[in-house]
Amino acid sequence: MKKIVIASIAALAVSSVAMAAVNTAACAACHGKHFEKHAMGKSKIVKNMTHAEIATALKGYKAGTFGGVLKGVMHGQVARYSDADLEAVAQTIGK
Ligand code: HEC
Repeated sequence: MKKIVIASIAALAVSSVAMAAVNTAACAACHGKHFEKHAMGKSKIVKNMTHAEIATALKGYKAGTFGGVLKGVMHGQVARYSDADLEAVAQTIGK
């Protein structure tokens, strides 16, 4: 019984992480599948940015403290995520 409870808690933890994690498929429409484009002709090429630069940008867009003329577009993309999620996804893109 104890084992079943532990197993189901572990399963729950895994599924909630999966739901919260940033889905980069949603970024591809603007940034390209490999973050190789200038989104809407404005952004830097994100794949050439460092993980740290990307983390700073994403958390800044969320907080409203970072960005250029189109920062409102990115705020809409990241506002629902936690800083930890944004930090984590930043480690998976860029260099
Ligand atoms: C609707 C189009 C769109 C989508 C979808 C989108 N972005 Fe962006 N992104 C932009 C634009 C436009 C900018 C430049 C905004 C500005 O003026 O600061 C930008 C900027 C960025 C930057 C900073 C680049 C720089 O120039 O400093 C990062 C990092 C980034 N986006 C990551 C993402 C990630 C990760 C996702 C998916 C979760 C995403 N974007 C989804 C349009 C988009």
